[in-house]
Amino acid sequence: MTITVIPRHPALGAEVRGIDMRRPMDAATRQQVIDAWTRHLVLVFPDQQISDEEHVEFTREFGEPEIFLQTSLKLRSERVKEIFLVSNVDEQGRLMTPAEPSQKQLSSAQQWHTDSSYRPVPSTGSLLHGIEISRTGGLTQFINMYMVWDELPEALRRQVEGRRARHDFGMMARLVGSPPPSGAERAAMPPVWHPLVRRHPVSGRTSLYISSIYNDAVEGMEDGAARRLIEELTAFAAQPKYMYRHAWEPHDVLMWDNRCTVHAVTPHDPAERRVMHRTTIVGSDPVIAA
Ligand code: OGA
Ligand code: MN
Repeated sequence: MTITVIPRHPALGAEVRGIDMRRPMDAATRQQVIDAWTRHLVLVFPDQQISDEEHVEFTREFGEPEIFLQTSLKLRSERVKEIFLVSNVDEQGRLMTPAEPSQKQLSSAQQWHTDSSYRPVPSTGSLLHGIEISRTGGLTQFINMYMVWDELPEALRRQVEGRRARHDFGMMARLVGSPPPSGAERAAMPPVWHPLVRRHPVSGRTSLYISSIYNDAVEGMEDGAARRLIEELTAFAAQPKYMYRHAWEPHDVLMWDNRCTVHAVTPHDPAERRVMHRTTIVGSDPVIAA
């Protein structure tokens, strides 16, 4: 099988045709997908009418699917444990209100971040399946953090080079006012430190590594100054020339690289159902400082 790869934006993002996620891939096709992913950072697979089980199986082509460590808010599917529910509809089909704790926590995804950066070995990538998509917003936006590093102004570069930032799962709750993690969840997800400038294990390229919903400290800086630095870096990164904005069609599956991109979703009308299922690939290497 030969795939067709059509870029969607000069910075990142490409559509991939010729894949049916319900069927096993041969090794050559799998390598073509990985090569396209390494080059374009975000892949769009249109029209994939997959079950959650097929979603998980496809994910296994690229690594072990992560199991979300927080159980209190029912964001992990009770049916298929590897599925993370990015949804305003619960598994019984009930539309939830924005005031509900799980929805408050999910609202943090409107700020730029990379998934599971609070883990000692952060995730390689994520695959998001649009089951019921929004027409009033809910665009998922991605930034090429290699380009951001390459073009980062000297004054900002000097502040991040050789430094590490802390990533704390609990920071997200402080940011959006969702319930703080329990003692057991904090014990399972203690804060971790990662280099702010990293080298990608496959491409060998250097990128800026920030995750604004989790970063609560920077080495050698007072906490207020650290937060301001993260915000300044995030604002520099969020320029249209570095950004692909994905407008969803039903049964698109997006696969993004968490090592060299950040993403954020735009708001949508909460009266509209939006049901997206995500798998997350467990990382294979600790973050390599560049
Ligand atoms: C995610 C996420 C974006 C979206 O699934 O990791 O941040 O479009 N969601 O809902
Ligand atoms: Mn995310």
